[in-house]
Amino acid sequence: MVLGLETSCDETAAAVVRDGREALSDVVSTQIEIHRRWGGVVPELASRNHVLQVMPVVDEALERAGVRLRDIDVVAVTSGPGLIGALLVGLQVGKSLAYAAGKPVVGVNHLEGHLLAIRMDEQAPEPPFLGLIVSGGHTSLYAVEDYGRYRLLGATLDDAAGEAFDKVARLLGLPYPGGVEIDRLARTGDPKAIRFPRGLNKRKTNDFSFSGLKTAALYHVQQHGLPQGQALADFCASVQEAIADVVTRKAVAAAKEAGLPRLVLCGGVAANSRIRELAVERGAASGIHVHVPPKRLCTDNGAMIAVAGYETFRRGGGAEGLALNANPSWRL
Ligand code: KG4
Ligand code: ZN
Repeated sequence: MVLGLETSCDETAAAVVRDGREALSDVVSTQIEIHRRWGGVVPELASRNHVLQVMPVVDEALERAGVRLRDIDVVAVTSGPGLIGALLVGLQVGKSLAYAAGKPVVGVNHLEGHLLAIRMDEQAPEPPFLGLIVSGGHTSLYAVEDYGRYRLLGATLDDAAGEAFDKVARLLGLPYPGGVEIDRLARTGDPKAIRFPRGLNKRKTNDFSFSGLKTAALYHVQQHGLPQGQALADFCASVQEAIADVVTRKAVAAAKEAGLPRLVLCGGVAANSRIRELAVERGAASGIHVHVPPKRLCTDNGAMIAVAGYETFRRGGGAEGLALNANPSWRL
């Protein structure tokens, strides 16, 4: 029985997971409304709100699972990567709970959490597979050879895919987090209306770049003014198409090149409808099976941290004990 705690960004989350697969509870308190008026996550506000939310969220996770703290075998907490002040809140609470219960505490890599979240989905594939992590902070391709064996095949050189969505949305005056808004508006737009750049598409690399897209979107607005009505829908569909095109093309190509028969979509941006659709289409054309998890497993949650914590503990993690510290730039 693992209690998982997540406070690396703007979600305060806790969950109880049994045997590394079965979520008995999964409570997420989002700070979206708090950060919306600033157009993005304000680190200091994130830390302060984690402090307010973390204990109620933990209590609710235990209550919904029908367990007490003493029934927990291991406390798992995200110790990186993420915002340092935000990480420290979860870490201190995780260590305190473990100390109070006399149980071990393990530090979990947030990205391993995203890669293993699908274990709670019965139809999900087992390793080996290629994991495409697309979130607000990351855009990376990992060969998941086995639990605990991850090989980084490529990553963004500048912005993350979610950041690109959110920054373009902000430019268009759409509320934070803009990815969801762009997805919604794109439904009635023409994806071929504007040809936005596909970063590093022609070069044979698994790395990504989204800064050119961001600049092109800015120049377009400077030249033509803020799009409204149908023009806004077309703009959103075109931006979404550029991002979906490049991430799905590179992910499928990397899976083929690495000899991995399956591709799994992970991270908040994997909730994007065009990415989900295009990944399946391109996978089918290349003989790669694409697994598209339910959206709740894509966005940040505590259960994914409990699952990864279960694996971390099984392979000997937790040796630091109460000396466990946060590592905001921890590379998986
Ligand atoms: O994984 P996540 O919940 O948090 C991080 O670890 O970053 O991802 C949040 C990101 C945000 O950038 C948000 O705009 C994006 O995921 N996102 C989407 C969609 N839903 C969430 N982007 C595009 N289309 C969506 N439907
Ligand atoms: Zn995340």
